[in-house]
Amino acid sequence: MKPYYQDKWVIREATIDDMDNLVSFFDTNLKGDWFMLKNKWLKILTGIASDGSKHTPDICAIVEDREVHILVAVAVMSRYTKKLFNLIVRGDYRNQGIGKMLMEYLHPRYVRCKTDMTAGNPIKFYEKLNYVHVGNYDLWGNKALVGKNKNIAWMEIAAKRCCQEVMELV
Ligand SMILES: CC(C)(COP(=O)(O)OP(=O)(O)OC[C@H]1O[C@@H](n2cnc3c(N)ncnc32)[C@H](O)[C@@H]1OP(=O)(O)O)[C@@H](O)C(=O)NCCC(=O)NCCS
Repeated sequence: MKPYYQDKWVIREATIDDMDNLVSFFDTNLKGDWFMLKNKWLKILTGIASDGSKHTPDICAIVEDREVHILVAVAVMSRYTKKLFNLIVRGDYRNQGIGKMLMEYLHPRYVRCKTDMTAGNPIKFYEKLNYVHVGNYDLWGNKALVGKNKNIAWMEIAAKRCCQEVMELV
């Protein structure tokens, strides 16, 4: 994906050179909500798993503050299925439109939303961006992926959902 420049921010796809930065960003900003091992980042960025198998790399989009050159937000989405798995904005940069900007850059079709984040439940954030809650099931109706605490909600872009419902009616 092409980088997108704004006065204050640049959004671009992360590369393997960003890995150390990503690891420390997640260690600092997640506060125990979940964690990402270096091996997982390697698979996201290069497609190479710890057992040596090769996969399609995900899209990891990052936002940097152009003035102070720091990483302020990260989002990870699967390249072909357009499922967003992770989105996190640095605490002191929230509510400035950065999360929305990243969503508009990536335009995921689905969102895997963890509903019990330390920072609060992000469902309303996604609803504002026209995503609808499609239940505590994965996209294939499989209940197992909601997590043992039932804290994972699947959301889908409303426009697609509408088209699907109309097509089912005709
Ligand atoms: C959820 C998160 C990504 C939102 O990012 P952000 O940059 O703060 O959000 P934005 O400033 O782009 O907000 C866009 C709109 O959503 C609203 N919004 C943001 N977070 C919200 C929340 N938790 N509840 C309700 N509305 C919210 C904003 O008020 C804004 O509304 P407006 O357009 O009417 O002004 C950020 O708070 C975050 O990183 N939270 C912790 C990690 C997390 O929960 N990630 C999602 C896991 S699935």
